[in-house]
Amino acid sequence: MKKVYLETFGCQMNVSDSERVATRLAAEGFEMTANESAADVVLFNTCSVREKAEHKLYTRVGQVRNPDGTKPIVGVMGCVAQLEGETLFAKSPGVDFVIGTQAVGRVGKVIENVFETRGNFYDLGVREENYDWTTAPAQRHSPYVAFVPIIEGCNKFCTYCIVPFSRGREKSLPAAQIVRQVSVLRDQGVKEIHLIGQNVNSYRPKSDVGLENFRGATPFSKLLRAVAATGIERIKFTTSFPRDFHPDIVDAINENENLCNWVHLPFQSGSDRVLKAMRRGHTIESYLQKIDKIKVSPRKIALSTDIIVGFPTETEEEFLETLKTAQYCEFDSAYAFKYSPRPGTPAAEMADDVEALEKTDRFLRLEKVLRQSQTKALQSCVNKIYEVLAEKKSFKKDRKDKSAHIGQLPTIQTNGDNFSGHTTCHKVVNFESSNDVLGKIVKVKITESKTNTLYGEIC
Ligand code: SAH
Ligand code: SF4
Ligand code: F3S
Repeated sequence: MKKVYLETFGCQMNVSDSERVATRLAAEGFEMTANESAADVVLFNTCSVREKAEHKLYTRVGQVRNPDGTKPIVGVMGCVAQLEGETLFAKSPGVDFVIGTQAVGRVGKVIENVFETRGNFYDLGVREENYDWTTAPAQRHSPYVAFVPIIEGCNKFCTYCIVPFSRGREKSLPAAQIVRQVSVLRDQGVKEIHLIGQNVNSYRPKSDVGLENFRGATPFSKLLRAVAATGIERIKFTTSFPRDFHPDIVDAINENENLCNWVHLPFQSGSDRVLKAMRRGHTIESYLQKIDKIKVSPRKIALSTDIIVGFPTETEEEFLETLKTAQYCEFDSAYAFKYSPRPGTPAAEMADDVEALEKTDRFLRLEKVLRQSQTKALQSCVNKIYEVLAEKKSFKKDRKDKSAHIGQLPTIQTNGDNFSGHTTCHKVVNFESSNDVLGKIVKVKITESKTNTLYGEIC
C-alpha cells in the first residue's frame, strides 16, 4: 500500500481541501501517514497569499529525502500549484506533479500516473460536476470541530490579492447539500462547525432549495438560520466581507443560541483613499456602522480582523487612521500583515514604496494597539464562566509551583489532565479536569488571562 504524507499551509480552505484529498486517497487504497520519512509520496498543499508563504514550499521541497537517500514522489497542490502550474517543474526540480485548486478530486489518478511512467504530470483543470465535498471522520483535523465550505473562489479582486487568480470565481454550494452535511457531522459527534469561504456572506446559490423555509435579508443569513435549525451545538463562520455584511447576520446570531458570538471582519486599512486603492468596496464610515451594530448586540459578539500595513503609497497620516480605527473597534483579536507584492495583481504594478523599515515600524506600532485591546478583552473574561469545547489534551499533567524559589521548583501533582478548547466567542481556554471531558462542552471559570490565552477551572 503506497503511503502518502500530506502537509498543509495557508487558510482553512486549504485545511479543508487536504481533509477531502486524504479522504479520497484513503478510499482509493492509499495509506495516509504522519511520518514523512516513511512516505512514498510527499504532498504539499500550498499558499501564495504573501511571498513568505510561497517560499515555504521551495524550502520544504528542497528538504524532502528518504532516510536511505532516495527521494519519494513529491506533489504540489493548492494556490502555488494553480498559479505556477508546469513552471514548478523547472523552478523546483524535486517536484513530480502539480494539482490545481479545482483538480483536487483527481490526485489519486495523477499519483498512479507518476508511479507508472515516472514522468511529470500536472492537472489544473476544473472541478468535476459530481465532486464529493464530504470528509471522513478519520481524515479531519479534529473529531469535534469541522470545516464546511459554503462558497469557493473570489470575485472581489482587491488589488493586492492573489486569491481570485488562484481560486477562480465565486461558486456557492447548494444550501440543501450544506445542511445535509451539517446534519451528518452532528450525528457523527461533531460539536462545532465552521462555515468557510473567502467571503462567506457573499453566498449566493443557484437555487433556493433548502432555504425556502427560512427568513433572511440575504441568502447567507437564510443559510445561517437553516444551519442553526439542524440543532448542531455551535456554528461559526469565516471570513465575512465588510461590503456584504448585512445587519441581518447580527439578528440571526441574536435569535439563535447556536450561532456563535464571533465575527471576523477584515478592515485592511483605516484610510478611505487606501481602501479605494485596494478596491475593497467599503469606506471606513460604512465599516464602523457595521461594527457599531455588532457591538450593541445583547449577545456580546467578539470581533476579529485582518489589517495590511504599508500598502503602496500609504502615508504616515493614513497609517495613523488605521491605528485610530483599530483603537475605536477594540478587536478581541487581529492579524496584521506587512504588504507583500504578489506578481500579477494590480498593486504589484505600483511601486512598493513604503520602505521595509517603515513597514516594520508601522507593523510594530499597530501590533501594540492590537495587543492592548486583546489584553483588555481577555482580562474582561476573568472571574466569568464560559462554555468551552474541550478540543484537545494540552500541556503536561504536572505543573511547577511558581511561588517557590527558582532552582527548587517542586512539582505539584495535579488531579487530572489539562485540556484546551475554545469559547463560543473563539477565545482559547486552557483548564484542568479530573474527568475525561474531551469532546464535551463544559463550564469553565476563568482565573487568569495571558497574552493569547485564558486559563480557568472547570465548574
Ligand atoms: N477573503 C478575506 C481574506 C483572504 S486573505 C478577506 O477579504 O478579508 C487573508 C488576509 O491576508 C487578508 O485579509 C489580508 O489582510 C491579507 N493579505 C492578502 N493579500 C496580501 C498581500 N498581498 N500582502 C499582505 N497581506 C495580504
Ligand atoms: Fe482577496 Fe479581497 Fe477576495 Fe479577500 S475579498 S480573497 S482579500 S480579493
Ligand atoms: Fe493562501 Fe490560497 Fe488560502 S493563497 S490564504 S491558501 S486561498
